Amino acid sequence: MVKTVDKIAVNDPVNNPEQRAIIDQILNENRHKPGATMVVLSELQNKIGYISDAMQIYVAKQLEVPVSTVHGVVTFYSFFTTTPRGKHTIKFCMGTACYVGGVPQLIEKAKQVLGINLGETTADGNITLEACRCVGACSQAPVIVVDDDVMGRFPAKKIPQVFKNLQQE
Ligand code: FES
Repeated sequence: MVKTVDKIAVNDPVNNPEQRAIIDQILNENRHKPGATMVVLSELQNKIGYISDAMQIYVAKQLEVPVSTVHGVVTFYSFFTTTPRGKHTIKFCMGTACYVGGVPQLIEKAKQVLGINLGETTADGNITLEACRCVGACSQAPVIVVDDDVMGRFPAKKIPQVFKNLQQE
């Protein structure tokens, strides 16, 4: 749970004048709308790319809502991230059909090849691994989503090639 802003990273959007201006603009344009918290957080995710702990505290203060409310929304919806995503995102469907159909093996292979866990980004900022809910292609299990491309019946042996292709883009 985030509570204080004692240690805001130097490069946090809250400390960056340009990003801070965007944050303030989003707050000012939406603070009086119904469901302002959700609206503001969605806009921040779209425009800044993530919602850091310091941003959550700042938004809570500005909207005069508890930090726990903002944090609860950010952690409940997989759409929100608290760290920057990589240039490319690979999502692994964790729906029942895909889970039973072999997604855990795909995840293990991906972790092994990239050396990162789900929710993390490679050191070069190129690839982020994430879990996602059912994407509606259950008959194609196991399914991964590479950026916006849904790829079904995906074998673990093809994982290294996907990474290689993304590294070359
Ligand atoms: S369970 Fe994976 S697409 Fe439905």
